[in-house]
Amino acid sequence: SKGGYDHFMLKEIHEQPQTIRDTLRGRVSDTNQVMFPELKLSREQLLNFNRIVIVACGTAYHAGMVAKHFYEALLRRPVEVSVASEFRYSDPIVDQHTLAIIISQSGETADTLAALREAKVKGATTLAVVNVVGSSIARESDEVIYTYAGPEISVASTKAYTTQLIALYLVGLYIAEQENRLGPTVVAGYVELLKALPAQVAQVLKLGPEIKELAQGLSKSSSFFFLGRGFDYAVAMEAALKLKEVSYIHAEAYAAGEMKHGPLALVEPGVTVVCFATQSALYDKMLSNVKEITARDGGAVALVKDGDEGLDTRSVDSVLRIPSTHDWFMPILAIVPMQMLAYYIAAALGREIDQPRNLAKSVTVE
Ligand code: M6R
Repeated sequence: SKGGYDHFMLKEIHEQPQTIRDTLRGRVSDTNQVMFPELKLSREQLLNFNRIVIVACGTAYHAGMVAKHFYEALLRRPVEVSVASEFRYSDPIVDQHTLAIIISQSGETADTLAALREAKVKGATTLAVVNVVGSSIARESDEVIYTYAGPEISVASTKAYTTQLIALYLVGLYIAEQENRLGPTVVAGYVELLKALPAQVAQVLKLGPEIKELAQGLSKSSSFFFLGRGFDYAVAMEAALKLKEVSYIHAEAYAAGEMKHGPLALVEPGVTVVCFATQSALYDKMLSNVKEITARDGGAVALVKDGDEGLDTRSVDSVLRIPSTHDWFMPILAIVPMQMLAYYIAAALGREIDQPRNLAKSVTVE
């Protein structure tokens, strides 16, 4: 049942504090160390990997993009993230020194399953991050880490994504710890921040009424751009997918620095540009991107951390303020308002929402 919500999508958005808590439970100890009783991988095996490939489709692929940034920062190894339908036909460079991480909510996506098989045939060790227990991908992978999102009914994925991120963060911290890259105190500090996320997501959910109002106006936009750099670019990709699938408004994500290499030509009144500025090192660069947009009369919405004083609020049409954590973990807090924005724009336009046209929850055809 929809538990009093108009749609499953909205219900599932609101379940995220709980599903994040459930995905952390049993994986973090009282002393804030990461535990994965389900993993059979030894320390020697972990040290033997010289690269990581991450393979998935859609939203799960976007979770993989976040993980790439995190793992490269933390593990200092090359991490490649591929769309499963590309990976499987590209004769990928994978061998017994590769850890292949396969991400899938359903565990049944045809291309993702085929990519898992391809990685295995080539000798990689496979680790699947899956939501549906006993699904094909879970059964065929060497190692499985379950997300505890519970059943996700809405075709547009929300709670599966944030729990995938949690599982992927934990895997990174676990590997870093096993390899002695991070000491127990540092790991504990990060785990403490992960444990604070459910309450922070609950805070973000309180922006609902504000976002609903904003959505009324934005639903008249002809097109959207979502801009970010680094982790924010990964989140922008997911935000654009959410909006297009439930509202049917054209939306695309761009690495913010790419705008002036072409897409800026499309910015004009009626086009809304959502700028993510949650990454400290890239903050000033994002502010100049905001100026590029408003100078061309595009509508600008900025997403910033609470307490951010750097943004001249007169320079944008709206500002969404979200709680702050380590830059690495900001994607969890940044996507939630975007899920709500997509939902409320779709609602304002009277879309189906839970079952968008042309789409299926699980893509079991190739
Ligand atoms: O079940 P999976 O995670 O393998 O599904 C992958 C994609 O089909 C899925 O994330 C799709 O992109 C969603 N509709 C996005 O909201």
